[in-house]
Amino acid sequence: MPDIDSLKESKNYYLDVPCRREAFFVKGSTSLDWGMQNRLSRIFNPASGRTVMLAIDHGYFQGPTSGLERVDVNILPLAPYADALMLTRGILRTTVPSSCGKGIVLRASGGPSILKELSNEQLALDIEDAVRLNAAAVAVQVFIGGDYETQSIHNLTRLVDMGNRYGVPVLGVTAVGKSMTRDARYFRLACRIAAELGAHFVKTYYVEEDFETVTASCPVPIVMAGGKKLPELDALTMAYKAVSEGAAGVDMGRNIFQSDAPLAMIQAVGKVVHESMKPEEAHELFLTLRSESQTENE
Ligand code: R5P
Repeated sequence: MPDIDSLKESKNYYLDVPCRREAFFVKGSTSLDWGMQNRLSRIFNPASGRTVMLAIDHGYFQGPTSGLERVDVNILPLAPYADALMLTRGILRTTVPSSCGKGIVLRASGGPSILKELSNEQLALDIEDAVRLNAAAVAVQVFIGGDYETQSIHNLTRLVDMGNRYGVPVLGVTAVGKSMTRDARYFRLACRIAAELGAHFVKTYYVEEDFETVTASCPVPIVMAGGKKLPELDALTMAYKAVSEGAAGVDMGRNIFQSDAPLAMIQAVGKVVHESMKPEEAHELFLTLRSESQTENE
């Protein structure tokens, strides 16, 4: 029983201070529930509004691709420099320490390997397992114009329904089949469809011409996929252009983990994304960090 005689009598209701009301910082997410917004804040850095997602989910259809042979050796040292990791639940449970503290974006679709038709995917994760793993988001591929377009869209809409039920955001990933033209017209179509059907953010490729029309016409944030390995300056330039033209960050894999200095590369990408560092300066930083690490290893 507390000693009621010692209770403080005076109270201050700050009648002259208006109640704080802040719009949520992630595009298109103002009306989402608290849990959904909290999870998005574990992916998008509230200070810059942008994200560096490190994509390492390639094994779900490619097996141990170059750079991902040993996630414990090659990837875990990079994690401190990422805002979020995009990966499968298998790698998460087996290899990533639960103390890693990064936003976790779980790959939620799969099925065919590189030996088969890739668009023939199905959902490959139950939302309850995503909640059990404290995922910040779940990711599903959509194949607009692909052989299994409708099936992949159905995967997205079912995942969005489940995500909305549990407060877990969904990342719609626009996959491009071999026969698709990679241009702004195609990506406007694919990104808008994903957002209209409920994706909370969308991952898509950068295109040199009219990329800003892709970001402008999508009502949720777009994160840029890295794509095949480029020389580091080219990859940093692409990231710089993407964020300058409206992307809310990157979800990059091979251009980081297949670099000959992944630790240096992810730090340079971080400077471009969060501080709008010019690509040439970020490349200088990459070269400096790379040579420092080479010296340390000698
Ligand atoms: C591909 O299906 C996966 O979602 C990858 O995470 C994605 O392609 C990004 O990786 P990268 O930057 O290597 O293209």
